[in-house]
Amino acid sequence: MLPTTLKEIANYIVADGKGILAADESTGTIEKRFKSIDVESTEENRRKYREMLFRSSAMTEAIGGVILFDETLRQNAADGTPLREVILSQKSLPGIKVDQGVQPFNGSDTEKTTQGLDGLNERCKEYDNLGAKFTKWRAVINIGDSIPSNDCINDNMMSLAKYASIAQQNNMVPIVEPEVIMDGNHSIDQCYDVTKNVLQKLFDLLEKENVSIKGTLLKPNMVVSGTENEYQAPVQEVAEKTVECLKLSIPSDLPGVVFLSGGQSDLDATAHLDAMNKIGGFNWKLSFSYGRALQQSALKTWLGEDENLDAAQNAFSHRALMNKNAALGVWDQSQEG
Ligand code: 13P
Repeated sequence: MLPTTLKEIANYIVADGKGILAADESTGTIEKRFKSIDVESTEENRRKYREMLFRSSAMTEAIGGVILFDETLRQNAADGTPLREVILSQKSLPGIKVDQGVQPFNGSDTEKTTQGLDGLNERCKEYDNLGAKFTKWRAVINIGDSIPSNDCINDNMMSLAKYASIAQQNNMVPIVEPEVIMDGNHSIDQCYDVTKNVLQKLFDLLEKENVSIKGTLLKPNMVVSGTENEYQAPVQEVAEKTVECLKLSIPSDLPGVVFLSGGQSDLDATAHLDAMNKIGGFNWKLSFSYGRALQQSALKTWLGEDENLDAAQNAFSHRALMNKNAALGVWDQSQEG
């Protein structure tokens, strides 16, 4: 039985170690990913690649939801079946990215604000009719000299809260994604402070907008060292600081936290998630909503060649199952083979 209420949908997506496949790369982003393997980003190639992922064997077991870009929600598989039905046949739910990307915040070079509230209610109505069960909105927060500013945090968290309310009014679970970006030379403690501040502001505003927390999923960054910082915190420190930060910032009735990978290596993303679940002591499910960390190995195996499609499915299934183990806290390096 597929779930129907917001609360049931949110719980379904993260049940039994399942997580989310983020396959909602915008036209520009998927073009960049395909360029890295020298493949042209045509509608047919995007269909072929994504259909390969959605039909892979680990989908039913490990993936509770797939975030799509507008094109894919309307696209058919090679045999004419809508891709969203291919996803449903794997007992996974189709979701949709509803934000419209980032722009400079108040003319800043470094701070961003997310677009997409204009007309959002109408677009959500259409997506609900097309069968989307959940939505995603990504806000971007950079750390640097004197940033993030409070104004930028407030602006972005307010948009997230307004978006979440509109998504719920249209019967879809909102995934709220405030991404504190890894790039920069900041320390892990700076990432901790900014992430805590951002999450506390977000949940304060979600409550003010009367968003049902039981029908919401949070997609945060992990608390990590900036990529240019000379001290790179090890797995256990990342896990401990992330769990502590979440415990201080998010309500216990939130059904699930589904992390973004944000540029982490495939193995780091899995190891961090596993270490957090081994710590335990929280009510929410801690799982994944990875884009790059789930797809990188499949993309590099596929290389745009039909003869590689089976091998690419195996690569994707392996990563999906490793992350499922991590979401259950039963992963170890030896399973990587
Ligand atoms: P990454 O896991 O590649 O960061 O992508 C997740 C995502 O959906 C970003 O919005």
